Amino acid sequence: VRGELRIYPDLQALSAAAAAEILKGCENALGERGVFTLVLSGGYTPRALYQLLATEYGDRLSWRRVHLFFGDERYVPVSSPESNYRMAYDTFISRIPIPEGNVHPIPTDGGDPAADAESYEDEIKVFLAVRELEGFDLVLLGLGEDGHTASLYPGDPVLDEKERWIAAVTAPPGHGTRRRITMTLPAINSARQALFLLSGAGKRKAVKELIETTASDAKACPAALVQPRERVLWLVDKEAALR
Ligand code: 6PG
Repeated sequence: VRGELRIYPDLQALSAAAAAEILKGCENALGERGVFTLVLSGGYTPRALYQLLATEYGDRLSWRRVHLFFGDERYVPVSSPESNYRMAYDTFISRIPIPEGNVHPIPTDGGDPAADAESYEDEIKVFLAVRELEGFDLVLLGLGEDGHTASLYPGDPVLDEKERWIAAVTAPPGHGTRRRITMTLPAINSARQALFLLSGAGKRKAVKELIETTASDAKACPAALVQPRERVLWLVDKEAALR
């Protein structure tokens, strides 16, 4: 798997490095295209980064020209503590001067995940087409202990998806809310860059697997199938990198 691995002393340092990468990606995108599209991830790891984006970086990014999307969502109301949108809203979105229309949550209120997935895909396709963009600028991702990323789980048929950008999926047992909506590999790989945030001893095995995965067994470790247009960066803290 091609990618660049960087190791940091702890989650705080890793989050600071991610914020700096986002700032750089944003400046480049605004200079070249006048808009920066950032896909957010859920889970626990990005919270420290989101807090940094709301504080230290709050006035360093031109939020009016930033558009936020989500890589996956649990099919729960936005008021649920399981909602990725809610986590991002509470830690960061509610605290930055971003216009409401620039935030694009995954809909979870239609009662039918497949229909909501389709409407999110339509929203993204129209957004990109109007601006003549091929895909997103930067996608933030996490890595599950089983090698999943976004809501792309090992062995799921959605890993073969070639056309659809957004899909309704069922997470395996043991991952909280099982009904999910996720970006597929074509959507994630449309991005210029992917930034993985990997922290803590619990990730050691998955990090090792990710590094050692070869093309032939990549479906067992979906994170290894992330190959965006320009680069993949794995930001890893020492605890996760130890063997
Ligand atoms: C989600 C995610 C998921 C997450 C990983 C890592 O909604 O659960 O998008 O892919 O990034 O499970 O999660 P942690 O950061 O909590 O370990």
